[in-house]
Amino acid sequence: MVSRLKVVVLYGGRSVEREVSRVSARTIVGALDRSKYEVLPLAVDESGHFLPAADSARLLADGRVPERFRGAAPATEALVPIEISPGRADVVFPIIHGSTGEDGTLQGFLEFLGIPYVGAGVTGSAIGMDKAVFKMLLRSAGIPTPRFVVVRLSERGARVRELVAELPLPLFVKPATSGSSVGVSKVKDLSRLDDALEEAFRYDERALVEEGIDARELECSVLGDEEPRASIPGEVVPGHEFYDYDDKYRDDKSRLLIPAPVSEKVSEEVRRLAVDAFRLCEISGMARVDFFLERATDRVLVNELNTLPGFTAISMYPKLWEASGLPLPALLDELIRLALARKERRDRLVHKPPAELA
Ligand SMILES: Nc1ncnc2c1ncn2[C@@H]1O[C@H](COP(=O)(O)OP(=O)(O)OP(=O)(O)O)[C@@H](O)[C@H]1O
Ligand SMILES: [Mg+2]
Repeated sequence: MVSRLKVVVLYGGRSVEREVSRVSARTIVGALDRSKYEVLPLAVDESGHFLPAADSARLLADGRVPERFRGAAPATEALVPIEISPGRADVVFPIIHGSTGEDGTLQGFLEFLGIPYVGAGVTGSAIGMDKAVFKMLLRSAGIPTPRFVVVRLSERGARVRELVAELPLPLFVKPATSGSSVGVSKVKDLSRLDDALEEAFRYDERALVEEGIDARELECSVLGDEEPRASIPGEVVPGHEFYDYDDKYRDDKSRLLIPAPVSEKVSEEVRRLAVDAFRLCEISGMARVDFFLERATDRVLVNELNTLPGFTAISMYPKLWEASGLPLPALLDELIRLALARKERRDRLVHKPPAELA
């Protein structure tokens, strides 16, 4: 019998998206082909510690954190649990959202351990997480995105008025790093700007102030490495005034339209820009790129890029691939193949100083 690849699915984490992560992990664990993979879920708890394997499996199934781990004490003594110590796992599938999960921190840890892992590397993850850096890159590459300014905590007050003076109302104010619309506000009247900034500064020391676009929201899934490919685009129809946290996770009023009912021209534009943004940001593996389609002009603008999209049964990333002819088990095979191929390529790079090479 051919030996199966050992896949560790890392889930949970410190962010508010912990529960989404668990449901995504459960979907992935359920869809991985057992004739090819030996699958082990491994949870990170709210305080950032790994849970033992048996508890991780139980938590995955029922969502309940075992009583003895509720508190600040580390769940395991070891910083690196045995399951991901060198030589034990063949590949890690990290599905932890938010800071320390998708911002390059966890990816750096896995690089350090020398284990292949699914999804974007350190650089791509860090760029995808940081909306200010991401948008500066887009601007430098001439990829259309809503106009924006970056405001630092130290620039509050009069200086902010100067910075945002050229942007038309309404404005969108958001923390540079966050997710799930946490800390995002729509500002229709400049007298509300300071409050919106205060809210954003609860989550980061930098905030973005953007021109609000009256737009439909489209999303596109990208998969690959050197030759990334884009899925058909989908549309999110928010149930609220904008696609906010409650809309995403509480009320279930938003709707997904797959494929997005748009012209061939718009669809091609979205797919082209999705691949351009993916390449620009050094992403490998996967990303979901989110767009605005301006109602009045049909202009397509890039909003953001997510290197760790949701993977629940109703999530856009896997749904778009399924509708593009790639069902979930095959998508997971491809992501794992890409992770192993990247590690192999990187291992071939030279790591010695020139003197030792002679
Ligand atoms: N410039 C803008 N113009 C119009 N609507 C906007 C703009 N920026 C944000 N929005 C609305 O706010 C929502 C959330 O903003 P955004 O996508 O930037 O952050 P996020 O959703 O928190 O990040 P993530 O998708 O990673 O969870 C968008 O889906 C959209 O409905
Ligand atoms: Mg978003």
